[in-house]
Amino acid sequence: MSQILVTGGTGYIGSHTVVELIKAGYEVVIVDNLSNSKLEVLNRIEAIVGVRPKFYQISVQDKEAMRKVFEENDISCIIHFAGLKSVGESVLYPVKYYSNNLGSSITLLELMDEYHVHNIVFSSSATVYGTPTRMPIVETDPIGNCTSPYGNTKFQIECILMDFAKSHKDANVAILRYFNPIGAHESGTMGEYPTGIPNNLMPYITQVAVGTLECLTVFGGDYPTPDGTCIRDYIHVVDLAIGHVYAVHKLESNPGLVIYNLGTGKGTSVLELVNAFQDANNMKINYRIGDRRPGDVVENYANCDKAYKEMGWKATRTIYDACKDSWNWQKKNPHGYEE
Ligand code: NAD
Ligand code: UFG
Repeated sequence: MSQILVTGGTGYIGSHTVVELIKAGYEVVIVDNLSNSKLEVLNRIEAIVGVRPKFYQISVQDKEAMRKVFEENDISCIIHFAGLKSVGESVLYPVKYYSNNLGSSITLLELMDEYHVHNIVFSSSATVYGTPTRMPIVETDPIGNCTSPYGNTKFQIECILMDFAKSHKDANVAILRYFNPIGAHESGTMGEYPTGIPNNLMPYITQVAVGTLECLTVFGGDYPTPDGTCIRDYIHVVDLAIGHVYAVHKLESNPGLVIYNLGTGKGTSVLELVNAFQDANNMKINYRIGDRRPGDVVENYANCDKAYKEMGWKATRTIYDACKDSWNWQKKNPHGYEE
């Protein structure tokens, strides 16, 4: 049986995707250098699906070590999650981001040539749309003009993949542009636990809820939106993970290059998310309205019709589900995957 190579498979989205792939009957091989994840994730995956995926602790940039992975397995498809993802850190250390994110992607494409692997799914981001000109965003809207080095890496990798697809008639490439993933596995055994003080909204909320942080600062209360706070498209991580299984199926039909937004199609404001968290979990979140965060766009939500029309995928879980699952994970694992 051939295998799916999941790079970054012990990370937040990767780990949930590995579970859904195994549930769908695929055999999975994970490559991760554990720069932003823990080995414990493998135990959690095994506890959920009863199978321990094969694991290599190496950097995707290390071509020699990666050759071993291709030699020892019969890879039919790659899902490429591995990458650095902190917008703020990318401004401070842009070269680290270009080197890791572009370097690992280029190495993978070279190895695809060398080992005749034709199918790849890539983790892109809504950030490639820069400052969007209309809502909801459709896949044909302009990309580029990203607001951070991190965003630029996603845009540039997309360009490389598009050229790769053009020059390789037998290649199948799925570029998936994620909106804002939140939530956790319903078991409460897998979820997101960023190192240090979280930059993203949901982990900040859960850490206030668990008492690690005192008060959420809502960045800006004077935006031109109904309640004055920014609007995003929050998608449950399990829905997003399932989207990857659909993308793998799609690639099996030899479509060439395909690009999909993966979101819910629905915008939710910061205060709506805070209220949903309070309602879903019957608790109060201590928050204050603060200044706007530089670089934030007012609203960002997806039109996801294309993913539904062409793959039959759509998000089915609600914001309420995501709030319950995020809290269930956080309260059962107050220190994430650490003992
Ligand atoms: P994550 O940090 O939890 O997972 C990424 C994984 O990649 C980590 O386990 C890390 O150790 C690993 N990694 C990094 N560089 C590596 C390398 N050179 N070799 C091997 N492993 C390496 O992040 P995530 O939230 O699961 O994101 C997964 C992908 O989705 C990333 O590419 C990210 O940019 C993209 N994405 C994430 C979001 C989000 O909000 N979480 C939004 C849009 C796109
Ligand atoms: N927010 C707060 N307080 C916080 C954290 C966030 O009010 O403590 C607000 C932000 O101002 C924004 C919203 O919550 O309005 C969401 O912020 P996040 O940081 O959770 O997410 P972003 O939309 O800013 O960024 C996410 C990913 C990026 C990606 C971007 C576009 O984190 O990697 O979506 O796809 F580039």
